Amino acid sequence: MERPSAAAADDRVVVRNVLGPRDRHAELARDVRDGLTGPVKEIPPKYFYDARGSDLFERITAQPEYYPTRAETEILELHAADFVSDVGAHVLVEYGSGSSTKTRLLLDAMHAQGTLEGYAPVDVSEDAVHAAADLLVSEYPELQVVIVVADFDAPLDLSFAGRPRLIAFLGSTIGNFTPEAARRFMVCVAEELEPGDGFLIGFDLVKDARELEAAYDDAAGVTAAFNLNLLSVLNRELHADFDERTFRHRAFYDAGRARIEMHLVSEIAQSVRIADLDLEVRFEAGESIRTELSHKYTPESARGLLEAGGLRIRRWETDGSARFAVALAERR
Ligand code: SAH
Ligand code: TRP
Repeated sequence: MERPSAAAADDRVVVRNVLGPRDRHAELARDVRDGLTGPVKEIPPKYFYDARGSDLFERITAQPEYYPTRAETEILELHAADFVSDVGAHVLVEYGSGSSTKTRLLLDAMHAQGTLEGYAPVDVSEDAVHAAADLLVSEYPELQVVIVVADFDAPLDLSFAGRPRLIAFLGSTIGNFTPEAARRFMVCVAEELEPGDGFLIGFDLVKDARELEAAYDDAAGVTAAFNLNLLSVLNRELHADFDERTFRHRAFYDAGRARIEMHLVSEIAQSVRIADLDLEVRFEAGESIRTELSHKYTPESARGLLEAGGLRIRRWETDGSARFAVALAERR
């Protein structure tokens, strides 16, 4: 299914929806049933990003404790031109693009080098990606945008996108995959790369636990609101009756696994009804739903992950405080 964006008064934005609304509801229903009926309760993080969730995420990136966005921006400000010229990229494909804010540094470099043709954001957040695309075509007169509303966790057909292409995966969103899913993802990316194409990926680096935990539990409570918003998504989409006031946000660093875990903890013993699933879910006081993982990397673990997928690092850049890294990789 491909059609001009309804929102864009411009034929330079085209939308490819991989799933329609009914399929999306069915997938959410299946994921929530699987996630809340097993021994450990968890919900996949892609459901955070309704319109409100995407707005809250943008606000997280502006919190003083949330350093990854600023650190990655610093790297792109210094090295976007090198990343782009190493590849000679004409097309930028971006997984989990959200508001496409940092993306502008790459598009600016492509524009300055005279190669900019197309941008294909791949994101489940329909609202965020439409708003971003409409702004981008007004800012870059030569730009053609193909919005792909899809799950990047499943195989994607990117054959429409020209070459040489740069595939970007910023924000350390790779850290939100389980280690097995991250390896599978690398294999899929490698299959999308031909000789001459590049893969640009952001990794948040292992550091002091206190600094990490603060980044996922800001004082203003924006991350807590983002986490709790998941319950209102379930209430709306599945006619559930979660009471947000009885759950609290919790984030902690597991140094052994080098990852932040995010949970929604039920403060009371209770049963929640999810009407669309015809399901009652029981919570003990203190029992939680795991809602997010955010893995942290060392230069060695990042290289190991890329190599396991058949990729080789061409360029590795960190910010001045070595909190975050951006790697440019290619197919081996
Ligand atoms: N790249 C931006 C946004 C990161 S937030 C940045 O670095 O700031 C993660 C983004 O990935 C959100 O826009 C969310 O909607 C999207 N996303 C999360 N899981 C996804 C999935 N499984 N498939 C596609 N997009 C997903
Ligand atoms: N990719 C981001 C990260 O792991 C996503 C993120 C940031 C996030 N803050 C969050 C996800 C809070 C859930 C809750 O840093």
